[in-house]
Amino acid sequence: MINYKFGIVLLLTMVVVGCSGEKSTQATSIPDDLTAIDSVSGLAIDENLALVRAQCTACHSAKLITQNAASREGWEQMIRWMQQEQGLWDLGANEPAILDYLSKHYGVKKKGRRQPLTDIEWYPLKE
Ligand code: HEC
Repeated sequence: MINYKFGIVLLLTMVVVGCSGEKSTQATSIPDDLTAIDSVSGLAIDENLALVRAQCTACHSAKLITQNAASREGWEQMIRWMQQEQGLWDLGANEPAILDYLSKHYGVKKKGRRQPLTDIEWYPLKE
């Protein structure tokens, strides 16, 4: 019985010591190259998030945005298409900030794969 209580005290001491260490402050620093994601919409967090959520998730999921990648011009064309075909309203003075946000977070991706090989001398695997 005494051993059991001692075990609990020891365990609690370890938890308290473990939690009060430096680790708890390290966990809050986010590296600069990572973007925090809004847990409700899945969109990147920055100063224009509220604007984009209000203007761009009224008709469809934000997934249509997060799964897309386009240049500023490309995003502008998608907005024009939605305005002409899908009843999207005039974004007015908000449009530049929305385009800033979209091209910053969902811009054209850098090439992630190597280029295909060229000038290869192929040889038969079997004679
Ligand atoms: C008035 C309703 C409405 C609003 C508001 C709206 N959209 Fe759309 N959007 C649509 C419809 C409808 C589609 C077509 C959905 C489909 O094909 O299932 C669409 C499709 C898209 C697509 C997919 C385009 C493609 O080529 O596949 C993207 C990206 C998109 N919207 C982004 C946005 C952004 C960014 C905003 C904010 C500026 C926005 N939408 C606001 C109606 C809207």
